[in-house]
Amino acid sequence: MAKPVIIDCDPGHDDAIALILALASDKIDVKGITTVAGNQTGDKTLNNALRVLSYLDIKKEVAQGAVKPLMRDLITAAEVHGESGLEGPELPQPAFEKSEKNAIELMIDIIMNSDEKVTLIPTGPLTNIGHLLLAHPEVKDNIEEIVLMGGACLGGNWTPSAEFNILVDPEAADIVYKSSIPVTMCGLDVTHKAQVFKDETERIRSIGNKASTLVAELLDYFGIFHMNPNFSFDGPPLHDVCAVAYVLDPNMFVCKKHNVEIDITGELTCGATVVDYYDTSGKDKNINVVFDLDREKFINMLCESLEKYN
Ligand code: BDR
Ligand code: CA
Repeated sequence: MAKPVIIDCDPGHDDAIALILALASDKIDVKGITTVAGNQTGDKTLNNALRVLSYLDIKKEVAQGAVKPLMRDLITAAEVHGESGLEGPELPQPAFEKSEKNAIELMIDIIMNSDEKVTLIPTGPLTNIGHLLLAHPEVKDNIEEIVLMGGACLGGNWTPSAEFNILVDPEAADIVYKSSIPVTMCGLDVTHKAQVFKDETERIRSIGNKASTLVAELLDYFGIFHMNPNFSFDGPPLHDVCAVAYVLDPNMFVCKKHNVEIDITGELTCGATVVDYYDTSGKDKNINVVFDLDREKFINMLCESLEKYN
């Protein structure tokens, strides 16, 4: 039976590709999509989710979530994702409206009415999940796992020690990491290895359907920022796609449980996911940290999922 999941995202190029991968699979059932401010403002990330689904002729309930972090001002990533948050491909205006429910209401509805425990896949700042767990802790019992893109064991991409999603809302991340819900963290350690090389973008483009054309065009734009020689990447890293791929096939990944805490006060390290790699604290190993993946299998999974579209 397909696993019920909710995707909580801030599209964003890699969020959009993560959605496309998830929606093609029969192993998971995307019960709802919730959006959050992050890569761009809340209105833009919502609009982007609706535009991607409309382009693909897929109708799913999409609910708008937080427009700012729990306690801080919003940081966006326009330099990576552009002014709309999804620059590059031409997308139609949304063909349907957002849900009448807000993100928290939709998540509660799905989680509390599901016969099977629900897996949450957050690919943006954790603001919505933070709100949910603070206001409705009863949902915890019916959450199977939270598989998120965020953080890193080694180094940040937005400050020397913080990854973007965690940096934007460290207080929300702190709530999630302390929640005692099983959490799998797909951080930069693995996502920087999930690069798509130029010939692979062309392989995707050559599939020749609407979904593959969109993914190739998203990769073209996402690649521009990542071709900065400071990064020494050979192609854009598909951060958010790792979280969905992990839910689809965890055996493709290398992970280990560690104690991980969020720094919410550090002057230099605020937003860092502090991984007790050598177990110096003896504290509870609360987080499943993903370190590596079989990159070729990952690319094949993406291509095979794109082939399923018309
Ligand atoms: C994360 O930040 C965003 O720009 C991406 O969508 C991804 O979720 C990577 O640090
Ligand atoms: Ca994202």
